[in-house]
Amino acid sequence: MSDIFAFKGAHDAGYAQPKPLISEDEISSLIPNSMVRKNPPKWPTASEPELVRHYTWLSSRNFGIDSGFYPLGSCTMKHNPRINERIVQLPGMNDIHPLAPESHLQGLLAIFYEMQEMLAHCSGMDQVTLQPVAGAQGEFAAIRCIQEYHRNNGDECRNKVIVPDSAHGTNPASAAMCGYEIIEIPSRDDGRLDLDALRAVTGDDTAAMMVTNPSTLGLFEPEIAEAAEIVHEAGGQMYYDGANFNAILGKTSPGLMGFDAVHYNLHKTFSQPHGGGGPGSGPIGVKNHLAQYLPKPLVDRRKDAKGIDGYSYFWINPENSIGKVQQWHGNAGAVVRSWAFYRRYGRELEKMSEHAVLNANYLRYRILNPDSASLQGIPAMPVDGAPADVVKHEFTLSMSPIKDTTGVSGKDVAKRLLDYGYMAPTLYFPMIVPECLMIEPTETESKEVLDKFADDFLAILSEDPEIVKSAPHSTDVGRVDEVWAARNLVLRHPLED
Ligand SMILES: Cc1ncc(COP(=O)(O)O)c(C=O)c1O
Repeated sequence: MSDIFAFKGAHDAGYAQPKPLISEDEISSLIPNSMVRKNPPKWPTASEPELVRHYTWLSSRNFGIDSGFYPLGSCTMKHNPRINERIVQLPGMNDIHPLAPESHLQGLLAIFYEMQEMLAHCSGMDQVTLQPVAGAQGEFAAIRCIQEYHRNNGDECRNKVIVPDSAHGTNPASAAMCGYEIIEIPSRDDGRLDLDALRAVTGDDTAAMMVTNPSTLGLFEPEIAEAAEIVHEAGGQMYYDGANFNAILGKTSPGLMGFDAVHYNLHKTFSQPHGGGGPGSGPIGVKNHLAQYLPKPLVDRRKDAKGIDGYSYFWINPENSIGKVQQWHGNAGAVVRSWAFYRRYGRELEKMSEHAVLNANYLRYRILNPDSASLQGIPAMPVDGAPADVVKHEFTLSMSPIKDTTGVSGKDVAKRLLDYGYMAPTLYFPMIVPECLMIEPTETESKEVLDKFADDFLAILSEDPEIVKSAPHSTDVGRVDEVWAARNLVLRHPLED
């Protein structure tokens, strides 16, 4: 163990805290008494090798996409090509000051412009801003644009946003933050949008409908154009949650489906490390009628013989912008990484979606095909109930039948997968699938990895239920009480006090 706080003070400290430059009296005259800490911090002292060991030890305590298979549905944890990191570390990218004048930022602005254009093109939108730094923030910003649009049209009475019951929680949350009432509609038995249910709630008060397509069940919505027509006829707007854009990129687009606004999770579709709330990037794209409300600033360009490829680049502010949603220029590093990712694929970007969809279907078939299921005596049941059906980039499994027969829950299987060296799939989401496990293999995993995972998954289901119910058995920390952990957050190291 190389926990730095456990050293209890090595003698050869690699670094000593400097003495304060001002006296204690001066400190208390500058800082309110209530904010001055009573005891000095107990900084650990460590020599350089001890420090290196500490961080190496810390890094090994995390499971990451670089440690093993990470089939986290909806969160899309995909391989992050190292070339992206090299590009974002170039001095011209990495050493930029956010207050630098446009003339010093021409390279970066050219990348931003190209990203705006590429994202607009791929999604069938007219204008894109790269400002928001998460999908959820993109949702909020785009719904605010829709709200301003209705206000400008004198349509203040539109106070409802419709979401299907398979929606990600951020959809209703973002709309609620804008002050909207949320109308949830049930999905059909096959998991798809229910147009009758939609018709029943659409009217003069509809501001927008938010849809993820393919849905959080990994299923494409074949009637999405009709849904858009219903909402548009009532005067509402269609919002596309782009978290699953990696399933359809280059094949179809939200614009073709009838959407007016979309957010992209650059940190999912275009690689990027992400998690724990960041770092991410959630640009939004809109059709022309919403463009004047986009968060500012965007990048535009003019012809300039001395500029990059004959253009110089500059910031612009949309006429009736909802304002800034993020300090500086959004998450510039995340945008550059995604730009590098897309440049590597170029016009073959659709191959990424094809492989993601192929991998998900292969893995799903391996787990659900009648032979492996009956061999193990497992009635594993997807929400649509038919192993031969086609999903997009991810799929859901209901562990309900297994729980009924053996008492093993979805959570137990997820915990047992940790013992086999995998990250657990997304658990209990979407909420309409009982005992749900949601699996997204992503495009870069090989057939061997998928086969091994399927074998291990099926092996777990035929293990002694007691072993599965008490998993994990091989991790540093066993099963924790998550509710208690969330309610009683301890963020300080026990030896730090
Ligand atoms: C379907 C869906 N929508 C929206 C979001 C929110 O995106 P972000 O985590 O970037 O805020 C997620 C995140 O997992 C998602 O899966």
